[in-house]
Amino acid sequence: MSFRAVRSRAPRGESVSRNLLFQHKHNVTYTVPKLKDFSPEALDKAAEKLLASLEKEAAEVKSESDWKVFRDRWIARKNGILAQVNDQWLKAAPKESKRDVGQRVNDLKSKVEQTVEASQNPDKRGPAGRAKTRSAAPSRAVAEVSDACLDITLPGVRRSIGAEHPIIRAMNEMVAVFRNLGYSVQEGPEIETDYYNFEALNFPPNHPARDMQDTLFIANQESKPLRERLLLRTHTSPVQIRTMEKMKPPIRIVIPGKVHRNDPPDASHSPMFHQIEGLAVDTNITFGDLKGTLDHAMKAFFGSSVKTSFRPSFFPFTEPSAEMMVSCFICGGSGRRGSEPCRPCKQTGWIEILGCGMVDPNVFEFVKNNGYDSRKLSGFAFGMGPDRIALLKYGLDDLQVFFQNDVRFLRQFA
Ligand code: PHE
Repeated sequence: MSFRAVRSRAPRGESVSRNLLFQHKHNVTYTVPKLKDFSPEALDKAAEKLLASLEKEAAEVKSESDWKVFRDRWIARKNGILAQVNDQWLKAAPKESKRDVGQRVNDLKSKVEQTVEASQNPDKRGPAGRAKTRSAAPSRAVAEVSDACLDITLPGVRRSIGAEHPIIRAMNEMVAVFRNLGYSVQEGPEIETDYYNFEALNFPPNHPARDMQDTLFIANQESKPLRERLLLRTHTSPVQIRTMEKMKPPIRIVIPGKVHRNDPPDASHSPMFHQIEGLAVDTNITFGDLKGTLDHAMKAFFGSSVKTSFRPSFFPFTEPSAEMMVSCFICGGSGRRGSEPCRPCKQTGWIEILGCGMVDPNVFEFVKNNGYDSRKLSGFAFGMGPDRIALLKYGLDDLQVFFQNDVRFLRQFA
């Protein structure tokens, strides 16, 4: 292809005479008017007129040479209609309208360019033009391409099939354990309101327990009432409330999902991580049910030889609250690996896996209109971190490998 063939601008002086020719041949009379009034209404009108003429002239394009004339009349740098619009509308606009006129002229420019490109004669279009425009004859296009570059003797392209990310895999396995116990799966939004993330979970405004959560707040929310302000959820617990608002008791649910906290990334922290939440509400649910359920789940997930242990803790939305430990499945609880100290459990023989507790009656107060009467019902809840569980399960020492998406790492799980 020669250089001339791809230039899109008419040689000097040519556009004017071509303009006349086009106007004569197609009996079009549109000329760019000088504007006196730069009000939005007047500009709207002027743009409307211009676009109507553009459409009309585009419809008249019947051949390659028609198209070239059409193109130059509208977009030639020297004296094309767009250039005139620039001179007579934008440059002439008073200071206070410049911004508005500038935006309108840009808008017109892209519409004109699109129309010019789209009206190019399909027969003479190059491959790029064909791909971009909507009305090229598809069958002919395919035939041309096939003739030119399809070699049916070449081997096909094998697409690589993706694999489950190790964290998602660990989450699915854990969720499956609870599904087998009759739990159903619920999800909720990652951008959450203060109400669901804190208030309805019994974190009063200014309660110090909010500080533990290193919340990432969405900017510029100060004008809203506190409970409506948006943040990135710091835990999956807001979905407890969202679910109790829409499902009547009794319920048994697990909630896998992403959560966010303002923690700088290091070997054991990430500003984005995952949680699996669980909630069971019914009549006569006891702390014994909580312990039995979680003990069973840990045995099903890590193997029947692991033991569980609970120690007191605090969460505003559970009372009493506990942390659960699992006996270290790396060293079998001994704290040593041969002559070496066991690092994952810090030689204690125990690994902290989750927070849990009995649903605080104050939480039921927020959903009492959907049948959650704290005098008749009780429940337990828990929240665990599958990232850490996957880290331990796959024997890794740096959480960051999960989020760097290095295929050499990920391929090992395919
Ligand atoms: N949401 C708590 C956290 O992120 C964990 C938790 C969930 C504790 C459910 C108790 C009950 O730390």
